[in-house]
Amino acid sequence: MVDTSPIMSTALLPVSSPARGRWIDHWLETLQDLEALRASHPMMDAVIEEVDGRMIRVGERWLADFASCNYLGFDLEREIIQAVPAFLEAWGTHPSWSRLLGSPVLYEQIEQRLTELVGSEDALVLPTITHIHASVIPVLASSGTIFLDARAHKTIYDGCQVARARGAAIRRFRFEDPGHLDELLAAERDRARLVCMDGVNSMTGNAPDLRAFAEVTRRHGALLYVDDAHGFGVIGERAPVESSPYGMRGNSIVRHFGESYEDIVLVAGFSKAYSSLLAFIACPTEVKNLLKVAAPPYLYSGPSPVASLATVLAGFDANERRGEELRAVLHRHSARLLAALRELDVRTPNRSGLPIVEIPLRNHTHIDHVGRLLFARGVYVTLAAYPLVPKAEVGFRVQLTAANTDEQLDRLIEAISDLAQRGELQSASEQRELEAA
Ligand SMILES: Cc1ncc(COP(=O)(O)O)c(C=O)c1O
Repeated sequence: MVDTSPIMSTALLPVSSPARGRWIDHWLETLQDLEALRASHPMMDAVIEEVDGRMIRVGERWLADFASCNYLGFDLEREIIQAVPAFLEAWGTHPSWSRLLGSPVLYEQIEQRLTELVGSEDALVLPTITHIHASVIPVLASSGTIFLDARAHKTIYDGCQVARARGAAIRRFRFEDPGHLDELLAAERDRARLVCMDGVNSMTGNAPDLRAFAEVTRRHGALLYVDDAHGFGVIGERAPVESSPYGMRGNSIVRHFGESYEDIVLVAGFSKAYSSLLAFIACPTEVKNLLKVAAPPYLYSGPSPVASLATVLAGFDANERRGEELRAVLHRHSARLLAALRELDVRTPNRSGLPIVEIPLRNHTHIDHVGRLLFARGVYVTLAAYPLVPKAEVGFRVQLTAANTDEQLDRLIEAISDLAQRGELQSASEQRELEAA
């Protein structure tokens, strides 16, 4: 399913009045566009019957997959796959203790390697980022004020709603606008202040100006909480000699911007670039120890399967051995697609060169038709339909991975070129003129 924008959190509240009929009808009415797509579109809620590299088979059709978040291609990496059976032999398939009860030593090893990689004081891993937002944001916010990025990921919004139910207040600041955050922080007297935002944005593919946000947050004595689900594994520390402008080691947004972890908590996951079900919070040891008794997923949730712990550990080795080479391929694919869009005068919000490329449609009602054209040309993407995104942003999102081939990119670019010729895509130059007017 597509990453969701905050519109989901406000637009979809059902009105549960008995006079309005069955509760499910209100949901279905609000979500009718999306439900119609889900029920009939071959590129939604699809059953994938087979994979072959980055080709997938849906029914009888083989398609080039540009909807995967496996940015480094670790899902297909032979050495990672071959590492798994030994872990299963040693540990079985699943530990099934909650982490507070007991954790295989693999967790200690992962947290140590992670701490070394991202350069934080310490790190705590939990099954998913969704678990972390829902449980850690309420602890960090307490009954203070949360300053929330207006375009933050839906899972951050949901974590903030839990915090609000426990007494926190929420103020939204405008997307990519540290000046607005500054104003809101200056106007707020609450002493407990938490700023929550995305790192690399899951729809635009751009990173926020982390230095500016960190400066504002620290100046006001607040704590910055950043979700870099899409940056971890892709962007990293800068170096005089780099294999790509993404930087080195894939150690995420804080290191990419040369920032320290002072008053910054970094959250990210392994479910994208590392192709494993696990997530982490990089934080001081004192906070980690508090979360061990205050964050319900540490106390009560089932842990990640052993195969995922294994692929994380083997993924660290693969990242050390081949990460720079894979990031160079990822950058080359992304640069090629973005250059093609420029040549075709097709608009995308991507300014960063990162591998998330959203392409909005001229007419949001054409999403079904455009999706079918892409499917017919053997291209699989994420459809970003209303109300998952605002109507002006309805379109499709392409995600590139190091495992995509040049031939698959040829196919993608031909399909996009066809859509541009049919007038289905927004024009980059028209958009620039509108913005200048
Ligand atoms: C920015 C962001 N945060 C959180 C998540 C959810 O991550 P997880 O599957 O680890 O809960 C996603 C997944 O798409 C995401 O894009």
